[in-house]
Amino acid sequence: MNTHQLLKGKRGIIFGALDPDSIAWHVAEKAFASGARFTLTNAPVALRMGKIQELAQKCETEVIGADATSMEDLSVLFTRSQEILGGQIDFVLHSIGMSLNVRKGKHYTEIDYDYYHKGLDISAISFHRILRAAMDCHALAKGASVLALSYIAAQRVFPDYNDMADAKALLESIGRSFGYHLGKSHGIRINTISQSPTFTTAGSGVKGFDQFFRYADLISPLGNASADSCADFCVAMFSDLTRMITMQNIFHDGGFSNTGVSTEIMNSVMGPSEV
Ligand SMILES: NC(=O)c1ccc[n+]([C@@H]2O[C@H](COP(=O)([O-])OP(=O)(O)OC[C@H]3O[C@@H](n4cnc5c(N)ncnc54)[C@H](O)[C@@H]3O)[C@@H](O)[C@H]2O)c1
Repeated sequence: MNTHQLLKGKRGIIFGALDPDSIAWHVAEKAFASGARFTLTNAPVALRMGKIQELAQKCETEVIGADATSMEDLSVLFTRSQEILGGQIDFVLHSIGMSLNVRKGKHYTEIDYDYYHKGLDISAISFHRILRAAMDCHALAKGASVLALSYIAAQRVFPDYNDMADAKALLESIGRSFGYHLGKSHGIRINTISQSPTFTTAGSGVKGFDQFFRYADLISPLGNASADSCADFCVAMFSDLTRMITMQNIFHDGGFSNTGVSTEIMNSVMGPSEV
């Protein structure tokens, strides 16, 4: 798809590219093709396991390790990114999620509370921490665009999404609240994008993910939104073309969120209608 150099001259930070399936990986490739310069970051453990250095080479940039739950790491990240990129940051992508309760197969009604705290800290409170660290470092440019990726389990129950549903509800609320304050003080906009189920390391960790992926695809009039199309949307949201959108949770889901049921699902559950 022609990216029209929509991000020419913009500087960014992209969190969460682990491997080529990661949504953040797609965003980095599209942002680079759109003319942006940015640093890549991920947790130190992910730098050892993942393929992020390959992506950095392709995007002619550097990787800065940062645990998104550490204020110290985030402060170094914002300071160093400004040095590397030569100025304040115009866009940030938070593409971070992890639930130990999901990983360990704990049922929602019997979750481990230490895991719960850890999951909320990594998946949601990190968004607050990132914004706070950016403000402390005076790192965000006027009119900067900040995005985090969410999921519709923040609004409706998807039983196997477990405590990640609570994390996403908190993440979206942080986006709204911080969006108000930074909109007033610095003209900065903050939004969350609620993405379709997508085959990635984090996505596939959810029990029954493949079945659910097919179900969502059959419900959505346009089918599931791919990581590639999500990346296109992120580029648009980082660009000046969307400069008056803030404090929103925007569904990027092929129409899933506004569809009650589809003919395909009705037929597969009930058999074809006789009238
Ligand atoms: N895959 C889906 O179905 C789907 C759907 C909607 C929303 N999302 C959201 O998209 C985002 C990206 O996930 P993905 O599907 O691309 O999977 P992914 O596994 O590729 O990305 C998750 C990233 O979080 C990083 N991370 C974990 N702990 C961290 C920490 N302490 N500090 C910094 N980074 C840390 C991981 O290293 C990884 O890069 C997540 O917020 C996820 O919830 C995913």
